[in-house]
Formats: sequence, structure tokens, C-alpha cells
Amino acid sequence: MTDSRAIDTNQRTNTTPGVSRREFVLAASAAAALPSLAGGFLSNAVPERRRESATLRIGLIGCGGRGTGAAVQALRADSNCELVAMGDVFTDRLENCLKGVTAEMGDEAPAKVKVDPDRRFVGFDSYQKVIDSGVDVVLLCSYPAFRPAHLKAAVQAGKHIFAEKPLAVDGPGLRSVLESAAEAKRKNLGVVVGFCWRYNDGMKATFGELARGTIGDIVNVQTTYLTGTLGKRPRKPEWTDLEFQMRNWWHFPWISGDHIVEQAVHSIDRLSWAVGDRLPKRVICLGGCAARTGPESGASYDHFAAVYEYDGGMRTFHTCRQIDSCPNDNTDYVWGLKGSAVINGWAPTYSLRDVSGREVWKYTGPNDRDMYQTEHNELFASIRAGTPINDCERGANSTLMAVMARMAAYTGQTISWEQALNSKESLVPEHLEFGPFPFAELAVPGKTKFV
Ligand SMILES: NC(=O)c1ccc[n+]([C@@H]2O[C@H](COP(=O)([O-])OP(=O)(O)OC[C@H]3O[C@@H](n4cnc5c(N)ncnc54)[C@H](O)[C@@H]3O)[C@@H](O)[C@H]2O)c1
Repeated sequence: MTDSRAIDTNQRTNTTPGVSRREFVLAASAAAALPSLAGGFLSNAVPERRRESATLRIGLIGCGGRGTGAAVQALRADSNCELVAMGDVFTDRLENCLKGVTAEMGDEAPAKVKVDPDRRFVGFDSYQKVIDSGVDVVLLCSYPAFRPAHLKAAVQAGKHIFAEKPLAVDGPGLRSVLESAAEAKRKNLGVVVGFCWRYNDGMKATFGELARGTIGDIVNVQTTYLTGTLGKRPRKPEWTDLEFQMRNWWHFPWISGDHIVEQAVHSIDRLSWAVGDRLPKRVICLGGCAARTGPESGASYDHFAAVYEYDGGMRTFHTCRQIDSCPNDNTDYVWGLKGSAVINGWAPTYSLRDVSGREVWKYTGPNDRDMYQTEHNELFASIRAGTPINDCERGANSTLMAVMARMAAYTGQTISWEQALNSKESLVPEHLEFGPFPFAELAVPGKTKFV
């Protein structure tokens, strides 16, 4: 069983090689576009035989820890696919990722990893160059702030998509994502979102039992995502303000959405899953920064506690924390009218109990499939079948639940679903270039205004 917490943490330590110069401004050379299937791999437009047999060309956008993993998983998901284009804002990340994917693919690398130098794009516009380079499937694995723009461009170009969570960091971003979700549906494009527990066999079976009513109507859920701190990358003299923030992106809310959006959103997604993906009406959330120190910690909080309210008065609860030397927990506590479930994300325990504590159901199926691999297997199989999976709207809803909790914590106000979705606060500048960049202040509940 893969531990997402370990992945999140390991990729963000200070041991990651830095850059020795400002390579990120290097302009990528003009795209050598591959002959592609018209408008991408549109399953409606492509004859069935071709859809089943054509080589699927993959482009990776965001070549970090998750991008490396996703590229390998995509290559293993289908026997006839190739990685042909890559884009990142940093040259070192792209080159390390290419090395990592090549090493991981081993003997299969020559046949599957075909990223010619003229299809390695660096810069803030690298995503568009990857999309325009004749690929059929794109993997969106950059920072959360950029997901809405990358998703929009990929959908407009008719590409099938794997998009890491979260899907956005603010209201304008989420509105864009919801439009992309709808357009992807109209175009019959696949969009699998990296809420990987939705692709975990044991979890799927357990949440399926909850939906079947095995412990009765669900009346209360509490989920937790309590971990230690993530790494810090001390400033190098050659780094501009923007590069410093991007190299420590998980601590800068305009890039990550803060940790309730970036990391704990997994557990908010499972909370939503447990109540049948019902949407809450409003949220109250307490939060603050108790133990983070140093400029690398940006303006992020280190703890949140959210209370969601639903039509009919039901309440659900989520708490998350990134503070060292405190107990860790990643568990969903679910109560129904006839029993309860305690579902652990890191050490899976999949069983349901009645009100007397007697076990009434236990998952006994296979538990050895890597959920990260499964999400790619299912995406590629659905593309081949002409019935692509699209979980983009659901992913946007879970992301919005996390974003609205952050808004409530930062402002100290109760925030409704509509308020959050229609928020005018745009955290992500339309145009970015490396240089001076403002450092946001820590939000203060009661003083920070909802916009
Ligand atoms: N599903 C999971 O369990 C899981 C685990 C880890 C990370 N993630 C998610 O994956 C995403 C990436 O996280 P990571 O840990 O790989 O981070 P990372 O820093 O290792 O990688 C992100 C990469 O994106 C690049 N990038 C940033 N902005 C870009 C842009 N505008 N265009 C092109 N490239 C850009 C960065 O330079 C970096 O190489 C995040 O959204 C994170 O929440 C999901």
C-alpha cells in the first residue's frame, strides 16, 4: 500500500538538487509537433479499430515527484503508449524527471520514453507547448495554482487528461475547472483526478458498503489528516523572490492553497465520499499557525478544524495539522444509524461494526494493487473503450470544500458554498515572470476580509 504522506514529504525535502543558475528563463525551442490524431484522441471521432490500436502519445506537465510517478504509471498502464513531451518551469526538475522515468522503465525505456530534446519545454508557457506537440494524453502534475489554466488548455485542445489534486486554489480557478469539466464531458474526454483513494480496492469496497446502507443512513463523519511538517528549501543567493516561493511552494497559499487544500483535501474528499458526495451548505473553520517558523514557511497555517453543515442539519468534521512531535492520524470515523466504521488511510482497516461493536462486514478482497497505478490503468482502459472516465466535477467539488474551509479559517467567517464558488479573490497572477514578488502576510481571522 503506497503511503501518500510519505510521497508528499519525501519529494519536499532539502535534499532535492537545486540549480546552479537561473535556468528557468531558457526559452524552449520550437515544438517539433508529432503527427497526432485529429484534435487529439477524441474517442467519438476516431474509428473503433484505430482507437483500440493507435499509439497513445503522452505529454507530462510538471516534472516533479508526482509527475515522475504519474509518467511511469501512465507508461505501464497501456502496452502501446509513449512519453513524447515534457514541460516544467525549471530545467533541473525536467532533466531529473526524465532520468528518473528512464531508469524506472528499465528495459522498456527505449520503446516508451521518447522525449527528443526539441520536445522538452521550459518556462511558464511550457504547458501549451506540450499540449501543442501532438500528444493524445496529458498528465497535469504542476503546482495547484496552475491546474485550472493547464486543464482549460488541455480540454480546449481535445486531450485526455490525468490531473493531480487539488484542482485549484481559489473561486475563480474552481469556476474555470467546472467549465472545463463540462466541456470535457461534451467532448467525451477522459479526466481522471488524482484523488487516488477513490481507486483503492479496499476503500472502494468499504465506501460501497456505506452507500449500500450496511451501517444505516450516515449521520456523522469525521476525517483527519494529521502529519509532521514538510521540508524547507533555504534561499539561495541566485533565487529571486518568486523562485524562492516556488521552490517552497507547499508553504505559500497562493500556489498550494495551504495544506488543507493541498494535502488534507484527500481526507475531505473521503468525507464527501462517505456522505454520498452530498455538498455542504456552509462551513465554519478554525485555524492558525502555532509552530511554523522561518521565511520558507511562507504565510501558511499549520492547523485547521472545519465543521461542514448540510441541508437538514447534519454536520461533518475535518481536522488537519502539519506540526512535528504530535500524533499522526489519517482516519475516517463514520457513524450510521445502525453502526460505525473506522477507515484508516495509511494502515488500511476495512471493516464495519454494528452499534454493539460487533463486526458486520470486512473487506477480504485483494489489497495489493497500487492505487496510483490503478487510476492510470482505468483512465487508459476507458480511453481505449471509447467511454472515458471523467471525475473532474467531483474533484472540483472536493477541492471547493477544502478552499471554502480555508476561506472560513482565514477570515473567521461562516462561508457558504455559493460564496466560496463566487468569490472574486484571485490568488494566482495572470502573468508571471521570475523576479521580485510580494510576500503575503499570515491571515488573521476577524481582520482578513472575505473577497
Ligand atoms: N495524489 C497524491 O497522493 C499526491 C502526492 C504528492 C503530490 N500530489 C500533488 O501533485 C502535485 C505536484 O506535487 P509534487 O509533490 O510532485 O511537487 P513537485 O514540486 O515535486 O513537482 C511539481 C513540478 O511542477 C513544476 N511546475 C510548477 N509550476 C509549473 C508550471 N506553471 N508549468 C510547468 N511546470 C510547473 C515544478 O517546477 C515542479 O517540477 C501537487 O498538486 C500535489 O498536491 C499528489
